[in-house]
Amino acid sequence: MEVKFYQPENQVPLEMHKVRVVQKLSLLPVEERLKRIQQAGNNTFLLQNKDVYMDMITDSGVNAMSDEQVAAMSIADDAYAGSETFNRVKAAIKQVFGTDYVLPAHQGRAAENILAEAYVKPGMVALMNFHFTTTKAHITRLGGEVVELVDKKGLIPQSKDPFKGNFNLRALKKAIETYGPEKVAFVRVEAGTNLIGGQPVSLENMLAVSDICHDYGVKSVLDASLLQDNVYFMKMREAQCKYMSTREIYHILANKMDIIYFSGRKLGFSRGGIITSHNKKYINEMMGFVPLYEGFLTYGGMEVRSMEAMAVGLLESLDMEYISQGPEFIAYLVNELDQYGVPVIKPAGGLGAHLNCSEILPDIPHDQYPAAALAAALYIAGGIRGMERGTLSEQREPDGTERFAELELLRLAMPRRVFTLSQVKYCADRVKWTYDNRHLIGGLEWVEEPKVLRFFFGRLKEIGYWQEDLAAKFRQDFGDSL
Ligand code: F0G
Repeated sequence: MEVKFYQPENQVPLEMHKVRVVQKLSLLPVEERLKRIQQAGNNTFLLQNKDVYMDMITDSGVNAMSDEQVAAMSIADDAYAGSETFNRVKAAIKQVFGTDYVLPAHQGRAAENILAEAYVKPGMVALMNFHFTTTKAHITRLGGEVVELVDKKGLIPQSKDPFKGNFNLRALKKAIETYGPEKVAFVRVEAGTNLIGGQPVSLENMLAVSDICHDYGVKSVLDASLLQDNVYFMKMREAQCKYMSTREIYHILANKMDIIYFSGRKLGFSRGGIITSHNKKYINEMMGFVPLYEGFLTYGGMEVRSMEAMAVGLLESLDMEYISQGPEFIAYLVNELDQYGVPVIKPAGGLGAHLNCSEILPDIPHDQYPAAALAAALYIAGGIRGMERGTLSEQREPDGTERFAELELLRLAMPRRVFTLSQVKYCADRVKWTYDNRHLIGGLEWVEEPKVLRFFFGRLKEIGYWQEDLAAKFRQDFGDSL
């Protein structure tokens, strides 16, 4: 599978695609970067993309499309009802998951909204390996509670555990018994567990979870948004998957899980969201919410051109030459940083590289947001936009106290098929410089703190003048470089 280089010391991951459409980038001088991050309230979500050199905030909706996806977009069938485009999406889902019933939604969180509306009632719990921000917001909004059951090993920042997203199966059984199966809205398995560093779940663990659910008569739900990376890791790290085709793995999972949903912004290199199942009963229970919140049942808020791109992109999600590129580039970046001594989540997962800010900035307390501080610092250092995945991304407790994150991470997402290896090397270089100058970095405090999903649009300011000092140090070290 891997292409071996003649000179092993030159070995790098090799792209099995070439770039045919490009977008011009700009890299602002450090003094400008300092201004822009402060104008953005030290929130990388509030930066303008034109001011960013490497946009590593997410892999969502920013993956490069293939020529075949772009070509497919031109045959989109724009009809309110009964669009041929929807039939092509359904056919692709049938190929990838083997399922017959499909509900469209405008993106992943819209699918989560429908799932929560259908099954979460006040006082119920949703059990999951780990929460995702939007998933949790929908469940708690409806009076439900999220209980996380990831095996504690998954929260150890540096380990050799190949499947850190795995459920603690004993804890799962115990939780179902303690709450009572009738109180469990569903058990949700998040493939490629996002907030703990894009860490995969093994096939064995996923199947065991669904067996437990069936024993207790509880619904199993797979969030397949990051399943593409997860399937890559199953094939690379799990003996029983080595000789399975990717399609076999998707099908085995779909046969076991009651409901699958995903963000098409991640799975399928496109946009939109999907809920699918073998079981018509579940689809019927959720169907009524689609026209209410999304749009008619054959587009669900998606634009037909995106749906065509999704249909082709889903099939590309079966192709190891495509799906290996993200994880291999991430592993390259993680390895570069790790060898230099920068604390990163290990082993490398999917989605992106994750810097462990509790270790990098141990003196900045949770409520001065070390991961957000590092995100601001890295933008100043290199025009690189990452995403805070720590305490700032948590919701406050109902009584207003901070909920400190298990892990204070700065995520550097690797949009698929987008960056070249020289850009990844540049990123590593600027992270190393930032790490070496970490003693200059200080905390952040709120200027405006929204009540819900505060990380998206909250504004903060630096405590003291550390950002000016950091920019000055950059000038001193890099001379007249951008
Ligand atoms: N589930 C997971 C595991 C996700 O990572 C996301 C989105 C969603 C659901 C929601 O999907 O964005 O289409 O509404 N993750 C993005 C990210 C936002 O940057 O990690 P969406």
